[in-house]
Amino acid sequence: MHLTDLNIDEAELGRVVNSTLAQVTPDYAAARFESCSTIELCTPSGSPIAVVLLNIQTSSASATRGQYAPLTDNYNRGFVDEYLFGAINGHWQAIHNRDLSHEVRFVVDIHETDDALPLYRFVDVDDARIRGLIPDSSPIDVAVKRYSVRRLLQVGDHLGGPSPGLVEMVASEAERLERHCFLDVFAGSCILSRVALEHGVRQAVCIDVMLDKDVAAENLGRYAPLAELRRATLRSALGTESYDLVAIDPFYDHTLIAINEFSREIAGRFRTAVINLGLALPTTWQARLHKVVETHMCIKQVRELHGERIAVCGAKN
Ligand SMILES: C[S@@+](CC[C@H](N)C(=O)[O-])C[C@H]1O[C@@H](n2cnc3c(N)ncnc32)[C@H](O)[C@@H]1O
Repeated sequence: MHLTDLNIDEAELGRVVNSTLAQVTPDYAAARFESCSTIELCTPSGSPIAVVLLNIQTSSASATRGQYAPLTDNYNRGFVDEYLFGAINGHWQAIHNRDLSHEVRFVVDIHETDDALPLYRFVDVDDARIRGLIPDSSPIDVAVKRYSVRRLLQVGDHLGGPSPGLVEMVASEAERLERHCFLDVFAGSCILSRVALEHGVRQAVCIDVMLDKDVAAENLGRYAPLAELRRATLRSALGTESYDLVAIDPFYDHTLIAINEFSREIAGRFRTAVINLGLALPTTWQARLHKVVETHMCIKQVRELHGERIAVCGAKN
């Protein structure tokens, strides 16, 4: 079956996909529409459906799709997929629905080109500057200087943290509370713990499945003795302690499962949690995420800081 049989203009569809990708991926990974193919399937009731496969090429599939985490099996659609589906189903289909000869479903397939970078690594701040990952006077540049950060997490071809909005919220919540314990879940380079310690927390626990002790020591600097490092998954490292302040900074497409897992494992043993909900873009993914957070926690406020949405939550009784 061909696109022309379905009355689909491939060039026009390609333009819609490319303009959507250009809108949502420039800071993450260049991605472009490569080709389309179609097959005809039958529903159980016997009606025909055309499935259109959109092939997207990128230098980093993880960065384009959302972000990568090992526990994403059940949630393998990141915000880029949501955006594409929104653009195609919401707008393109709405215009063309009456012209199409079949019911059409779209499937997105994102592949990496051969020059794709290794997925995770810690990058020296000076190298990151040379490679343009820390633009002068950007919120991340301000945070890196303010907290003497030495190493940053790089995922694919973009920085994997810290989110400048989360840095700001951790600093202000740490100032608000007194002499408290801080939990840094998905700690990565442990920068959020450094921020919390600088703003008065008594001790920090950093949990990350790929925690690197040298990176943590460099970033924590003179605060290193106040931080306990646990290199393990959230589930195995959480323990039974209670915390006053928690920062939850998972990869974006891991957020749904991370919130579920965190809430189940910690069962109310915290006072305030700040959660990175990702980009401040109104996607269905964002709405779903908001609902999941609401199910488990009492949302006190959602702030939009530096293009990201940060929720400040309390435990639900
Ligand atoms: C967005 S990054 C965190 C960035 C971090 N706040 C920073 O400033 O560097 C997400 C982190 O989650 C970690 N991670 C993924 N799955 C995990 C799991 N099941 N348990 C613990 N850590 C996990 C990754 O290793 C990664 O460092």
